[in-house]
Amino acid sequence: MATSLTATVGPSVTMLVEGRYVSQAEPRGVTAALARRGVRVRTVVAEDAVADVADPTTILGRDAGPHPVVCPRGRSLALLATLRALEAQGVHVIHRAATIDTVVDKVGMSARLTEAGVPTPRTWLGHPSRLSRRPDLAYPLLLKPVRGDNSRGIAVVDDAAQLRGLQWPEQVALAQPFHRGDAHDLKVYVAGPHVWAVRRRSPIHPDGTPTGATEPGVQVPVTAAARALAERCRAVFGLTLFGIDCVTDSSGDLLVVDVNEFPNYRGISGDVDEMLAEVVLGVLPAEVQQAGAEPFEAELVGLPEQVPA
Ligand SMILES: Nc1ncnc2c1ncn2[C@@H]1O[C@H](COP(=O)(O)OP(=O)(O)O)[C@@H](O)[C@H]1O
Ligand SMILES: [Mg+2]
Repeated sequence: MATSLTATVGPSVTMLVEGRYVSQAEPRGVTAALARRGVRVRTVVAEDAVADVADPTTILGRDAGPHPVVCPRGRSLALLATLRALEAQGVHVIHRAATIDTVVDKVGMSARLTEAGVPTPRTWLGHPSRLSRRPDLAYPLLLKPVRGDNSRGIAVVDDAAQLRGLQWPEQVALAQPFHRGDAHDLKVYVAGPHVWAVRRRSPIHPDGTPTGATEPGVQVPVTAAARALAERCRAVFGLTLFGIDCVTDSSGDLLVVDVNEFPNYRGISGDVDEMLAEVVLGVLPAEVQQAGAEPFEAELVGLPEQVPA
C-alpha cells in the first residue's frame, strides 16, 4: 500500500471499521465523500490491525498530521479496544467506546431510555425458563439477545408454556411485549443536525416469524414526534451519527426499541454521504477543517504501517 510519509496538514480521517462492515454503504459512502473533498482518509479494519497502545500512529499512519479524526464503524471487541487506546492518546473521535457500549447492551439501553422517560416497551431480563414463572408478563412476548443486532436470535412466544419450552442459547434474554403495530418500523436516522425517517417493513412478521425483509423502505416526512424521539435519544446517549428503530403501540404511538450507532442510512434520498462528511469534519475546530483542493485517493483497507518481520 502506498503511504505518503509527508505529514498531512489539514484534517485526516481514519475510518476504524469492524471487518463485516467494510464493504457496506457506510463506511464506503462517507469515505468517498471525504476523499472527494481532499481529506486524507484511510480505512483500517480493527480486527486486522496491530496497535501499539502508546503510539496512535500505528493505527492512524505516520502521515496523519496534527488533526486526526477517528470515525468508528462497528462494535467488535477489537474495534472498541483500539478506539479506547486512541481516545487515551487524545485523538478526536466521532463516538467514544463508552458511548457505543451504551447502545450495544440492549438492557442498559432500555434502562436508560426508561429512566429518561423515552417511550420504550416494558423490558425484562432473565432466562426464559425463569421468566416463564412470572405471572405478570404480557404475551405475545418478544425475546432478543442482550447484545443482538440484525435481528439475530429474535423469538416470539404466545404464552408461558411456549416460553418455558424455548431453547435459549445464552445466559439470559431481554424480553418485551411484542407490539405488532402495523408490521412496519419507523427508522429515524440522525447525522449531526440532519434527521430523516424511513418506513420499513419489520424484520419480524406479526405472527412472530422472520420476514426476511430486505427492501430499503420508503422515506417519509419527519414528524414532530419522531424528531422529538431522535433528539431525546441524542441527549441520552450522546451519539452524533445514529439511528433509532421505532414500532407503534396499540394507540399508534411510537416506541423506541433499538438505538444504533453509525447505521447505513438506507432508504434516504439526497446526498447523505456529503452530510456525513461534514459532520465528521465538524468535530474539529473550524480553522483546521479545510482540506487540500485536490481529491485524495482513498486508501482502502489494511495495516497502516509495515509490520516488522
Ligand atoms: N418489543 C417489540 N415489539 C415489536 N417489534 C419489535 C420489538 N422489539 C423489536 N421488534 C422488531 O424487531 C426488530 C429487531 O429488533 P431490534 O430491537 O431492533 O434489534 P436488532 O435490530 O439489534 O436485532 C425491530 O426492528 C422491530 O421490527
Ligand atoms: Mg434494530
